[in-house]
Amino acid sequence: MKGIVIEGGERLVGEVRVSGAKNAALPALAAALLVEGPCTFTNCPRLRDVDTFQALLENLGARFQWQGQGEIEVDTAGITGVTAPYDLVKTMRASVLILGPLLARMGEAMVSLPGGCAIGARPVDLHLKGLQKLGAEIELEHGYIKARAKRLTGAPLYLDIPTVTGTENLMMAAVTAEGTTVIENAACEPEVEDLAAILTTMGAKIVGAGTSVVTIEGVKRLRPARYAVMPDRIEAGTLMVAAGMTRGNIMLKECRLEHLEAVVAKLRDVGIEITPLKNGEVRVVGDGRVRSADIKTLPYPGFPTDMQAQFMALMTVANGLSAITENIFENRFMHVSELKRMAADIRVQGATAIVTGVPRLSGAQVMATDLRASASLVLAGLAAEGTTVISRAYHLERGYDDLVGKLAALGADVKEVDLDEDAGEQRQGV
Ligand code: EPZ
Repeated sequence: MKGIVIEGGERLVGEVRVSGAKNAALPALAAALLVEGPCTFTNCPRLRDVDTFQALLENLGARFQWQGQGEIEVDTAGITGVTAPYDLVKTMRASVLILGPLLARMGEAMVSLPGGCAIGARPVDLHLKGLQKLGAEIELEHGYIKARAKRLTGAPLYLDIPTVTGTENLMMAAVTAEGTTVIENAACEPEVEDLAAILTTMGAKIVGAGTSVVTIEGVKRLRPARYAVMPDRIEAGTLMVAAGMTRGNIMLKECRLEHLEAVVAKLRDVGIEITPLKNGEVRVVGDGRVRSADIKTLPYPGFPTDMQAQFMALMTVANGLSAITENIFENRFMHVSELKRMAADIRVQGATAIVTGVPRLSGAQVMATDLRASASLVLAGLAAEGTTVISRAYHLERGYDDLVGKLAALGADVKEVDLDEDAGEQRQGV
């Protein structure tokens, strides 16, 4: 089993290019289902979730080809299938993103219910309610979502929660529906805006993406597109925290600070210097001890839940006490018990973790439980005294494009290793 070994204490110095965003690349690949012909996406990250999406699309009969550095060509002209099977969907919830476009393209879709994951139940009821409003017949049978619609018809939709993939699914279902769709209380994340830009490049008529009211005018057909996926704001935020925890001085390239305002504001509050330079370059300087600060995760433009675990790692070695409240997912504190094995002082009370900064973390054997939890353990290992061994490192590979390689290139003493199969389990007794 893949593991990561880190000797803590090294400063991070140098420059690193931020990869394309996982949460923009996945909906982009789903959007390729809407057109009969080859779409090309550049700046795509090489990571496990993209590989899973490739398997999903090929299972439908699509042609999916890496064309070299970050470029993917997807041609769904020949698709015959309409099913996203359980064994693929259970490994990646974002598989639900094929529901809307497949329904719009084929008039039917059979998508396994994603089921929960480590961080929460992850329901898709709002996706289904919206599709029904657009005229789909939805049945749940044997763990599958069975959707049918001869022709989708535009309608006014209201999302009880600004669900990101829910907004994306409904946008993709609405772009070729008959008439106008207005999505109210839509998610405003930059990745939603990036998907709208891709759909517009394909000929869709969308106004308001990136705001809470998105209006879509249905069009007859869409055409293949070529599009560069936006940079990954969560990877950028993770690297900024890494600099802050190691007294680092790094330069991020391809970094869109406007996508990270809440995170940058907090990191500056605690004493990390973040300076925009020319064309997407950002200097990040940490001077060792940071001040503490409280965060509450919120839908965009609030502090992103995908940066909560990384910010918590930073607060474990801050001066003072911080309150970290997770408002988006019901179980996104799985990293707490692992950080406490590294001598972090954290008390969880309901949706809030109270973190008291300690002078130094101590390296330990820990286990990754989910994508962003694994990132927080890597960050903690960089700052800890001694050796940290992280098991189940495949979680990290799901959502980061060679983060270990990037950190090593910046001077971290970090490497991937093969761990003895039951090393993680023995300790956990699982
Ligand atoms: C997207 O997940 C991201 N994934 C997540 O990133 C991110 O954490 C999340 O948005 C929030 O920003 C992708 O974009 C592929 P939601 P998504 O629907 O769309 C509830 C990462 O680490 N909800 O916005 O699944 C839900 O339970 C991943 O990269 C319903 O109740 O999240 C949650 O409490 C993790 N019913 C809240 O809404 C629904 O039908 C927000 O979920 C849908 C969602």
